[in-house]
Amino acid sequence: MQGPGLDELVRTKKFLFFGGKGGVGKTTMAAATAVWLSDHGYNTLVVATDPTVSLSSIFAQEVGETEITPIGTERNLCGLSINPRKALGMFQSRMNTMMDGFSTMFGSELLSTPCTEEIAAFDQFVSFMGDTEHDKVVFDTAPTGHTLRELSMPFDWSGYISNQIESRRELSEVLGFVYDEGMIDDLKQEKARYDAAVKALSDTDTSSFNLVLLPEKLPIDETERAVTDLGGFGIRVRALIVNEIIPQDAIRGNAFLERRRATQERYLNDIGTRFRDIPRAEVPLFDSDIYGLDALRKVGGVLYGR
Ligand SMILES: Nc1ncnc2c1ncn2[C@@H]1O[C@H](COP(=O)(O)OP(=O)(O)O)[C@@H](O)[C@H]1O
Ligand SMILES: [Mg+2]
Repeated sequence: MQGPGLDELVRTKKFLFFGGKGGVGKTTMAAATAVWLSDHGYNTLVVATDPTVSLSSIFAQEVGETEITPIGTERNLCGLSINPRKALGMFQSRMNTMMDGFSTMFGSELLSTPCTEEIAAFDQFVSFMGDTEHDKVVFDTAPTGHTLRELSMPFDWSGYISNQIESRRELSEVLGFVYDEGMIDDLKQEKARYDAAVKALSDTDTSSFNLVLLPEKLPIDETERAVTDLGGFGIRVRALIVNEIIPQDAIRGNAFLERRRATQERYLNDIGTRFRDIPRAEVPLFDSDIYGLDALRKVGGVLYGR
């Protein structure tokens, strides 16, 4: 579903995600998609949440970690590279303020959940799911395992919060604690934010979750796990982007490339049978790495047409 089909998907959804194993081309596809959308008149924000790559490298210009930065000379493309460590700091101070009173009343175990860092990363992400200032928000998600952990957090966490709310209410009745409605309201608001983000993620009218992979064994296996895991959260994978396919016309009798391409062909067939129901796009291996607007436009052209 190259060109028409895939372009329809990005035109009609607001939140676009590119998941997959490390190094398969998520950042490249996210950046190329963002450039294509902005070229087609959509006011687009691209957000990198992957700590291993910054948008500054791929756009060959400075892209901020705390401030949304305009990209290129277009007025409708901007980006943000979230630094997970800074995100954690921001999250903790907000939580501390909110929970200060709560923990003096009931003890601090609510704050010491084991996954504060994952919650903080997801918290950043959640704040963009409420975006009203852009037509499109494109996410370069962290590698699969991490993404899934982030995604699973709000489920556990919101369940945890509602349990806390209930048990605190009971406890306060039995033991005569002061039950502070204001603080409970803050917690409820937090929970509502998370629930809304998770709902938006699994809402096929607003979000498109796409997975990038290479025609190789490990990325295929990982993709299969990701499709299943995401499905468990009610998230349907809308498209697979198979990247770095050796172009037929580059082989020119070279036996090494010929064998490599034959191997890829086998895996392409494998992908076809294992993911029968998921539409698929193919991107060739380019003769150079991909950065800067011109190169990204080439990739966008392959994916969505010109
Ligand atoms: N189709 C392609 N042809 C050539 N190089 C590619 C292609 N896709 C990605 N690359 C290069 O591979 C590297 C990894 O891509 P990247 O998008 O950063 O992966 P990820 O975000 O999944 O870790 C980058 O240097 C990128 O330029
Ligand atoms: Mg990346």
